[in-house]
Amino acid sequence: MFYPEEVVEEVRMRSDIVDVISGYVKLQKKGSNYFGLCPFHNEKSPSFSVSPQKQMYYCFGCGAGGNAITFVMEYENYSFPDALKLLADRAGVKLPEAEYSREEQQKSYKRARLLEINKLAANYFYYQLNQPQGRVGYEYFKERGLTDETIRHFGLGFSNKVRNDLYQFLKAKGYEDDILKETGLVSIEERGAYDKFWNRVMFPIMDVNNRVVGFGGRVMGGGEPKYLNSPETLIFDKSQNLYGLNYARTSREKYLLLCEGYMDVIAMHQAGLSHAVASLGTSLTERHANLLKRYTQQIVLTYDSDGAGVKAALRAIPMLKAVGISTKVLNMKPYKDPDEFIKNKGVDAFRERIDQAQNSFLFEIEVMKKDYQLDDPEQKTRFYHAAARKLLEFGEALERDNFTQAVAQAQGIPFGDLRRLVNQLGARMGGAGMPAVSAREDYHSPGERKKKEKDDGIKKAQRLLLTWLIERPALFEKIDGIIGPEDFVEPLYHQVAELVFAGRRQGMPNPAEILNHFINDDEQYKEVAALFHAQLEESLDNEGQKKAFSEIVYRVKKNSLDYASRHAADIDELQKIIREQAALKTFSITID
Ligand code: GTP
Ligand code: MN
Repeated sequence: MFYPEEVVEEVRMRSDIVDVISGYVKLQKKGSNYFGLCPFHNEKSPSFSVSPQKQMYYCFGCGAGGNAITFVMEYENYSFPDALKLLADRAGVKLPEAEYSREEQQKSYKRARLLEINKLAANYFYYQLNQPQGRVGYEYFKERGLTDETIRHFGLGFSNKVRNDLYQFLKAKGYEDDILKETGLVSIEERGAYDKFWNRVMFPIMDVNNRVVGFGGRVMGGGEPKYLNSPETLIFDKSQNLYGLNYARTSREKYLLLCEGYMDVIAMHQAGLSHAVASLGTSLTERHANLLKRYTQQIVLTYDSDGAGVKAALRAIPMLKAVGISTKVLNMKPYKDPDEFIKNKGVDAFRERIDQAQNSFLFEIEVMKKDYQLDDPEQKTRFYHAAARKLLEFGEALERDNFTQAVAQAQGIPFGDLRRLVNQLGARMGGAGMPAVSAREDYHSPGERKKKEKDDGIKKAQRLLLTWLIERPALFEKIDGIIGPEDFVEPLYHQVAELVFAGRRQGMPNPAEILNHFINDDEQYKEVAALFHAQLEESLDNEGQKKAFSEIVYRVKKNSLDYASRHAADIDELQKIIREQAALKTFSITID
C-alpha cells in the first residue's frame, strides 16, 4: 500500500515523538531534550536522546536515529505501512482505504475470521484446563514443573476427551462449517464433525504480533503421535513461525537460543531465558533463518544432544550462516534437552553452558572426527586432511589462520604443520578457496599519507555515495544488502543516511523533508543542503564516475567494517566482521 506524502506528513505531525517513544522507553527531560536507555542496544547509562524540536531521536551509543515512524519500524520490526498504521490509529488519523480487489477482500475477511476462531479456541482450551475434566492436563503441566504464571503466559490449555465439544462450542458462537473446516481444528465428515485435538495438552502458537495462528498438542499418556500440530492454513505457515518469538523478540539479548521443542522454550522462559525460540516440530528452513535474521545476528543452538539433534544442528549451521547469522552450539550432556538440563542442574549451570558454547565450525570438525578411527595412523591422517580441506572454506587469510589455530589446538596438532597442510591443499586445488588476489590486496592506503588526508577521503566517499543515492534512487537496488545507513560512520552523514534509507523504504527520499530535520543547526543544515545540491561536479554522468561507484561503495563498506572491528564488543562479533571483511574482497558492482 502506497500512502501519499500528505497523509504521511499528517500522521507524522500528529504523532509527537516524545509521546510515542514514552510508550516504549522511560524518558527524562534534560534541558530541551529527553534522555533514556537506548532500546536498540544494551546500555546502562542513557545515551538515547529524543528531541521534541526536531521530532527526531538519536542514540549516541549505537547511532540509531530517525523520526517517530522509523522508531516504530525499528522497535516493532514493522514495515513502513504497518508503522504508519499503528501511529495513525494512535493519533486518530484515518488512512485512506486500500483498493482491494474482491478476491483480496474476501481473503482478508477470511483471515480475520480464522484469527478470531483461533483466539476463541485458545480461550476454550485454557478454560478446560482449569475445569475438573482438564485436571489431568493441569497436573501434567505441574508435574513438568510449570507455574500457574507460566501456564497463563503461554496460554496453555487442554482438549478434553469429548470428541466434538470444541466444534459444538464454535458452532454455538455462530460459525459455519465452511469456515470451521479451514481452521484445521475440526474435520467434518458425512458421519459428523470431530475435533482434531483430543485428550491433549494444548500449546497455542502465536505469531510475532501475539495472534494465535495455530496449535500444538501433546498427547496424554503414550498415544501417537506424541505431538500433533495444526495443519497449514491461510494463517498458519510452519516455516514462517517460531514458537516463543513473540516474547523473545523483545528480550533485547544479543543472541537468541534456538531449540527443538515447545517444552524447551517454555522451561527456558520460565527460568528467565526469554530469548529462546523453537521451530515447530519441523527442521529449520531458509525462511526461519530469514525470520531470525530480522531479530539477531547470533544464535546459540540448544538442540537435543542425541543423534537427531546433532544432525539437525549440522543442517541449521550453514543455513544460518547463509543469512549472516553466526552460530554456536551448546553442549547439553549428559542431558537430552534444555528442559531436562535446567530441571536437573538449574539455570545458572545452563548459563555457564551458554558461555561455553562452541563455535559452530569447531563443532562441525568435532562431529566430522567421529567418522575416523584415530588410533589408526592412516585414518588419523585422513581426518587431518579433511579438517584442512574444511578450513579452506575460509577465503580470508587471517580468518583461516585463526581457525587453523583453533582447530590445531583443539585437536592437538602442531599449528605450523596444520597450516602447511592447509596451504598445500589450497595450492593443489588450484587456489580454490584461497583468497582471491585482487588489485585491492596490493592497495594499501599508503601509511605515509597523513591521517587527516585519509579521514577526508573516507568522508568524501560517504558524501559521494549519499549524493548519488539521493540523485539516483535506482542505485539502492545495487547496494541492497551491502550498504545500510549504519555504514555511514560520519555522524552527520549517518543521520542523513537513516532518513534517506527510511525515505527510500516509503518510495522516494524527500530532500526537503529530510533537510527539515536539520533546521535548528545552521552548520549541519548547510552541509546537508550541500549533499542535495552536489549533482553538478560529482554527477554520475561521466564514465569515470561510473567506474568509481564500485570503488566508492567498497571504501565506505570497508571503512565501516574497520570502524566496527575497532568497536567490536567481543571476539564473536569481531570474527563476524572479519568474515564480512573477507567477503568484501571479492566484491564488485557495475552500473550502466
Ligand atoms: P516431551 O516428551 O514433551 O518432553 O517432548 P520433548 O520436548 O522432549 O520433545 P521431542 O524431543 O520428542 O520433540 C521435540 C519437538 O518435536 C516437539 O516439541 C514437537 O514440536 C516435535 N515433535 C515431537 N514428536 C512429534 C510428532 O510425533 N509429530 C510432530 N509433528 N512433531 C513432533
Ligand atoms: Mn523434553
